[in-house]
Amino acid sequence: MSKNAKVFPLNEVINNVTLLHLSNKVENLERRHKQTCEMAVRSILHALDYKDHYTFGHSMRVAFYALIIGKEIGLTNQELYALELTALCHDIGKIGIPDSILLKPTRLDDRELGIMKTHPVKSAEILGDFTYFGHIVNFVKHHHERYDGKGYPDGISEDDIPLFSRIILVTDTFDAMTSSRPYRKGLDTNIAFDELVRFSGTQFDPLIVTNFLKAMAKEHMKQVGTFSLNIVNGRFKKDAA
Ligand SMILES: [Fe+2]
Repeated sequence: MSKNAKVFPLNEVINNVTLLHLSNKVENLERRHKQTCEMAVRSILHALDYKDHYTFGHSMRVAFYALIIGKEIGLTNQELYALELTALCHDIGKIGIPDSILLKPTRLDDRELGIMKTHPVKSAEILGDFTYFGHIVNFVKHHHERYDGKGYPDGISEDDIPLFSRIILVTDTFDAMTSSRPYRKGLDTNIAFDELVRFSGTQFDPLIVTNFLKAMAKEHMKQVGTFSLNIVNGRFKKDAA
Protein backbone atom coordinates (compact mmCIF):
# COMPACT_ATOMS: atom_id res chain seq x y z
CA MET A 1 0.00 0.00 0.00
CA SER A 2 1.37 3.46 -0.92
CA LYS A 3 2.14 5.96 1.78
CA ASN A 4 -0.58 8.34 0.56
CA ALA A 5 -3.39 5.75 0.38
CA LYS A 6 -6.25 6.72 2.70
CA VAL A 7 -7.31 4.14 5.28
CA PHE A 8 -11.04 4.25 6.13
CA PRO A 9 -12.01 3.27 9.67
CA LEU A 10 -13.92 -0.03 9.73
CA ASN A 11 -17.09 1.50 11.28
CA GLU A 12 -17.20 4.14 8.46
CA VAL A 13 -16.99 1.36 5.83
CA ILE A 14 -19.78 -0.58 7.57
CA ASN A 15 -21.96 2.54 7.77
CA ASN A 16 -21.48 3.25 4.05
CA VAL A 17 -22.34 -0.34 3.09
CA THR A 18 -25.46 -0.21 5.31
CA LEU A 19 -26.55 3.11 3.75
CA LEU A 20 -26.08 1.73 0.22
CA HIS A 21 -28.04 -1.39 1.16
CA LEU A 22 -30.86 0.74 2.64
CA SER A 23 -31.04 3.08 -0.35
CA ASN A 24 -31.24 0.05 -2.73
CA LYS A 25 -34.03 -1.34 -0.57
CA VAL A 26 -35.94 1.99 -0.66
CA GLU A 27 -35.50 2.16 -4.46
CA ASN A 28 -36.87 -1.39 -4.83
CA LEU A 29 -39.82 -0.61 -2.55
CA GLU A 30 -40.60 2.57 -4.54
CA ARG A 31 -40.43 0.65 -7.84
CA ARG A 32 -42.76 -2.03 -6.47
CA HIS A 33 -45.15 0.60 -5.09
CA LYS A 34 -45.27 2.30 -8.52
CA GLN A 35 -45.92 -1.07 -10.24
CA THR A 36 -48.73 -1.86 -7.76
CA CYS A 37 -50.36 1.53 -8.37
CA GLU A 38 -50.10 1.07 -12.15
CA MET A 39 -51.78 -2.34 -11.74
CA ALA A 40 -54.56 -0.59 -9.80
CA VAL A 41 -54.99 1.92 -12.67
CA ARG A 42 -55.19 -0.90 -15.22
CA SER A 43 -57.79 -2.68 -13.05
CA ILE A 44 -59.91 0.46 -12.74
CA LEU A 45 -59.66 1.00 -16.52
CA HIS A 46 -60.61 -2.65 -17.06
CA ALA A 47 -63.74 -2.05 -14.97
CA LEU A 48 -64.46 1.10 -17.00
CA ASP A 49 -64.04 -0.93 -20.21
CA TYR A 50 -66.73 -3.39 -19.01
CA LYS A 51 -69.00 -0.52 -18.01
CA ASP A 52 -68.57 1.59 -21.17
CA HIS A 53 -66.22 0.35 -23.90
CA TYR A 54 -66.39 3.68 -25.72
CA THR A 55 -65.07 5.67 -22.70
CA PHE A 56 -62.19 3.18 -22.33
CA GLY A 57 -61.02 3.69 -25.94
CA HIS A 58 -61.63 7.43 -25.61
CA SER A 59 -59.36 7.54 -22.52
CA MET A 60 -56.55 5.77 -24.43
CA ARG A 61 -56.77 8.26 -27.33
CA VAL A 62 -56.97 11.25 -24.96
CA ALA A 63 -53.76 9.97 -23.31
CA PHE A 64 -52.07 9.73 -26.72
CA TYR A 65 -53.16 13.26 -27.75
CA ALA A 66 -52.20 14.68 -24.34
CA LEU A 67 -48.72 13.13 -24.61
CA ILE A 68 -48.01 14.63 -28.03
CA ILE A 69 -49.00 18.07 -26.66
CA GLY A 70 -46.82 17.43 -23.60
CA LYS A 71 -43.84 16.61 -25.83
CA GLU A 72 -44.57 19.65 -28.03
CA ILE A 73 -44.43 22.02 -25.03
CA GLY A 74 -41.28 20.36 -23.67
CA LEU A 75 -42.51 18.55 -20.55
CA THR A 76 -40.00 16.34 -18.72
CA ASN A 77 -40.39 12.53 -18.67
CA GLN A 78 -41.68 12.71 -15.10
CA GLU A 79 -44.28 15.31 -16.12
CA LEU A 80 -45.26 13.23 -19.17
CA TYR A 81 -45.82 10.25 -16.86
CA ALA A 82 -48.15 12.32 -14.63
CA LEU A 83 -49.93 13.66 -17.73
CA GLU A 84 -50.49 10.11 -19.05
CA LEU A 85 -51.92 9.06 -15.68
CA THR A 86 -54.19 12.13 -15.64
CA ALA A 87 -55.46 11.43 -19.15
CA LEU A 88 -56.04 7.71 -18.50
CA CYS A 89 -57.96 8.44 -15.30
CA HIS A 90 -59.85 11.62 -16.24
CA ASP A 91 -63.17 9.85 -16.86
CA ILE A 92 -62.98 6.91 -14.42
CA GLY A 93 -65.70 8.65 -12.37
CA LYS A 94 -68.12 7.59 -15.13
CA ILE A 95 -68.12 4.19 -13.39
CA GLY A 96 -70.35 5.98 -10.87
CA ILE A 97 -72.84 7.31 -13.44
CA PRO A 98 -76.01 5.19 -13.97
CA ASP A 99 -76.05 3.28 -17.29
CA SER A 100 -79.40 4.87 -18.16
CA ILE A 101 -77.58 8.22 -18.36
CA LEU A 102 -74.06 7.23 -19.42
CA LEU A 103 -75.22 5.00 -22.27
CA LYS A 104 -78.31 6.98 -23.26
CA PRO A 105 -78.28 7.25 -27.06
CA THR A 106 -80.27 10.49 -27.12
CA ARG A 107 -79.78 13.97 -25.69
CA LEU A 108 -79.58 14.22 -21.88
CA ASP A 109 -82.19 16.37 -20.10
CA ASP A 110 -81.11 18.95 -17.47
CA ARG A 111 -81.39 16.53 -14.55
CA GLU A 112 -79.38 13.84 -16.37
CA LEU A 113 -76.80 16.41 -17.47
CA GLY A 114 -76.41 17.50 -13.85
CA ILE A 115 -75.67 13.89 -12.83
CA MET A 116 -73.27 13.43 -15.78
CA LYS A 117 -71.40 16.56 -14.69
CA THR A 118 -70.51 14.93 -11.35
CA HIS A 119 -68.06 12.56 -13.08
CA PRO A 120 -64.86 14.70 -12.72
CA VAL A 121 -65.39 14.94 -8.95
CA LYS A 122 -66.11 11.18 -8.85
CA SER A 123 -62.87 10.52 -10.80
CA ALA A 124 -60.97 12.62 -8.24
CA GLU A 125 -62.64 10.75 -5.35
CA ILE A 126 -61.66 7.34 -6.75
CA LEU A 127 -58.03 8.46 -7.23
CA GLY A 128 -58.02 10.20 -3.85
CA ASP A 129 -58.07 6.78 -2.19
CA PHE A 130 -54.46 6.27 -3.38
CA THR A 131 -51.85 8.55 -1.79
CA TYR A 132 -49.60 7.76 -4.80
CA PHE A 133 -52.01 9.61 -7.11
CA GLY A 134 -52.34 12.67 -4.86
CA HIS A 135 -50.51 14.87 -7.37
CA ILE A 136 -53.02 14.20 -10.19
CA VAL A 137 -56.31 14.32 -8.25
CA ASN A 138 -56.72 18.04 -8.87
CA PHE A 139 -55.86 17.76 -12.59
CA VAL A 140 -58.57 15.11 -13.03
CA LYS A 141 -61.13 17.08 -11.02
CA HIS A 142 -60.76 20.18 -13.23
CA HIS A 143 -60.74 18.62 -16.72
CA HIS A 144 -64.10 20.23 -17.61
CA GLU A 145 -63.21 23.77 -16.53
CA ARG A 146 -63.39 26.24 -19.43
CA TYR A 147 -60.74 28.88 -20.09
CA ASP A 148 -63.41 31.63 -19.69
CA GLY A 149 -64.55 30.27 -16.33
CA LYS A 150 -67.88 28.86 -17.57
CA GLY A 151 -66.95 25.23 -16.99
CA TYR A 152 -67.39 22.91 -14.02
CA PRO A 153 -67.13 21.84 -11.20
CA ASP A 154 -65.65 25.08 -9.78
CA GLY A 155 -65.90 27.61 -12.63
CA ILE A 156 -62.22 28.56 -12.36
CA SER A 157 -60.56 30.23 -15.38
CA GLU A 158 -57.31 30.68 -17.35
CA ASP A 159 -54.13 29.92 -15.37
CA ASP A 160 -56.13 29.00 -12.26
CA ILE A 161 -57.01 25.81 -14.17
CA PRO A 162 -54.12 23.35 -13.82
CA LEU A 163 -52.11 23.01 -17.07
CA PHE A 164 -52.81 19.27 -17.37
CA SER A 165 -56.57 19.90 -17.00
CA ARG A 166 -56.42 22.47 -19.83
CA ILE A 167 -54.61 19.90 -21.99
CA ILE A 168 -57.21 17.22 -21.23
CA LEU A 169 -60.12 19.53 -22.12
CA VAL A 170 -58.71 20.16 -25.63
CA THR A 171 -57.90 16.50 -26.32
CA ASP A 172 -61.11 15.22 -24.70
CA THR A 173 -63.23 17.54 -26.85
CA PHE A 174 -61.29 16.73 -30.02
CA ASP A 175 -61.76 12.99 -29.48
CA ALA A 176 -65.45 13.42 -28.62
CA MET A 177 -65.98 15.42 -31.84
CA THR A 178 -64.13 12.97 -34.11
CA SER A 179 -65.56 9.75 -32.58
CA SER A 180 -68.45 8.01 -34.30
CA ARG A 181 -71.27 6.96 -31.98
CA PRO A 182 -74.30 4.76 -32.76
CA TYR A 183 -76.43 7.90 -33.12
CA ARG A 184 -74.02 10.15 -35.10
CA LYS A 185 -70.94 9.99 -37.31
CA GLY A 186 -67.72 11.59 -36.04
CA LEU A 187 -66.61 14.90 -37.53
CA ASP A 188 -63.81 15.09 -40.07
CA THR A 189 -60.53 15.96 -38.25
CA ASN A 190 -60.11 19.26 -40.15
CA ILE A 191 -63.59 20.41 -39.12
CA ALA A 192 -62.78 19.45 -35.50
CA PHE A 193 -59.51 21.45 -35.72
CA ASP A 194 -61.55 24.47 -36.94
CA GLU A 195 -63.91 24.09 -33.97
CA LEU A 196 -60.97 24.05 -31.52
CA VAL A 197 -59.66 27.27 -33.10
CA ARG A 198 -63.14 28.83 -33.06
CA PHE A 199 -63.49 28.26 -29.31
CA SER A 200 -59.86 29.09 -28.56
CA GLY A 201 -59.77 31.75 -25.81
CA THR A 202 -63.32 31.02 -24.63
CA GLN A 203 -63.55 27.28 -24.05
CA PHE A 204 -59.91 26.37 -24.63
CA ASP A 205 -56.46 27.72 -23.71
CA PRO A 206 -55.20 29.17 -27.05
CA LEU A 207 -51.63 28.03 -26.38
CA ILE A 208 -52.73 24.42 -25.93
CA VAL A 209 -54.82 24.52 -29.11
CA THR A 210 -51.86 25.92 -31.11
CA ASN A 211 -49.52 23.24 -29.79
CA PHE A 212 -52.07 20.49 -30.39
CA LEU A 213 -52.44 21.52 -34.04
CA LYS A 214 -48.64 21.62 -34.44
CA ALA A 215 -48.22 18.20 -32.81
CA MET A 216 -51.03 16.67 -34.89
CA ALA A 217 -49.45 17.99 -38.12
CA LYS A 218 -46.21 16.21 -37.16
CA GLU A 219 -48.12 13.01 -36.31
CA HIS A 220 -49.90 13.17 -39.69
CA MET A 221 -46.50 13.26 -41.46
CA LYS A 222 -45.51 9.96 -39.74
CA GLN A 223 -48.35 8.06 -41.44
CA VAL A 224 -48.67 5.60 -38.52
CA GLY A 225 -52.18 4.43 -37.67
CA THR A 226 -51.57 3.08 -34.16
CA PHE A 227 -50.00 4.18 -30.89
CA SER A 228 -48.85 2.65 -27.60
CA LEU A 229 -48.76 4.02 -24.06
CA ASN A 230 -46.43 3.50 -21.09
CA ILE A 231 -48.89 2.56 -18.36
CA VAL A 232 -51.39 0.47 -20.36
CA ASN A 233 -50.17 -2.45 -22.48
CA GLY A 234 -51.14 -2.97 -26.11
CA ARG A 235 -51.43 -0.98 -29.34
CA PHE A 236 -54.44 1.22 -30.04
CA LYS A 237 -55.88 2.66 -33.23
CA LYS A 238 -55.56 6.44 -33.63
CA ASP A 239 -58.75 6.47 -35.66
CA ALA A 240 -61.72 6.88 -33.33
CA ALA A 241 -64.28 6.08 -36.06
FE1 LIG B 1 -64.88 14.01 -18.82
